[in-house]
Amino acid sequence: MATPYRVAVVIGSLRNNGFSLRIGQALAKLAPDTLKLEIVTLHDLSFYNQDLEANAPADWTAFRDKIKASDAVLFVTPEYNRSIPGVLKNAVDVGSRPYGKSAFDNKPAGVVSNSPGAIGAFGANHHLRQCLTFLNMPVLQQPEAYIGGVGDAFNEAGELVKEPLREFLQKYIDAFAAWVAQQAK
Ligand SMILES: Cc1cc2nc3c(=O)[nH]c(=O)nc-3n(C[C@H](O)[C@H](O)[C@H](O)COP(=O)(O)O)c2cc1C
Repeated sequence: MATPYRVAVVIGSLRNNGFSLRIGQALAKLAPDTLKLEIVTLHDLSFYNQDLEANAPADWTAFRDKIKASDAVLFVTPEYNRSIPGVLKNAVDVGSRPYGKSAFDNKPAGVVSNSPGAIGAFGANHHLRQCLTFLNMPVLQQPEAYIGGVGDAFNEAGELVKEPLREFLQKYIDAFAAWVAQQAK
């Protein structure tokens, strides 16, 4: 691995200008020079179906290639019904196959969950971590990122206006950069 380390920022929401996308974009702006963050949205990813694996759809291959070309993966996700949105679980499943050729294998990862609510999508964060453990992804442990109260974090133009959140995201992405560098050794 060489710097800048390439980080695929997988956004767990399809919503136009959703908070998860905005947080991912804010992290990309705050990232130190040692990281190059690329936002990966999941709009074009079709449902996983093992029957299609012999002749994998082009959108699966494109997603797998994007993950394989990255040095690390940062997941930014909302919570749906105390778990991760289906689109994100689908992306985890698509990237994990074919068996023995997971695009995610051994890639350092981070999980940033967020919600307008108070709990900061803790449930989604830890459901995702369960998958990442099985996928053999070393996940940054501290700082944990359960971001609550995102409803007033961005202005109409999508700019981050909540200073305490900006400070936290800076701390998080700096810790993530150190973590990726440590894993690269
Ligand atoms: C189907 C559905 C389920 C939801 N379940 C939760 C939940 O369990 N916990 C929570 O904090 N917010 C929940 N929400 C609210 C989301 O946090 C909110 O819609 C958020 O803006 C979605 O993230 P996004 O802005 O990145 O799209 C849910 C929203 C939807 C549409």
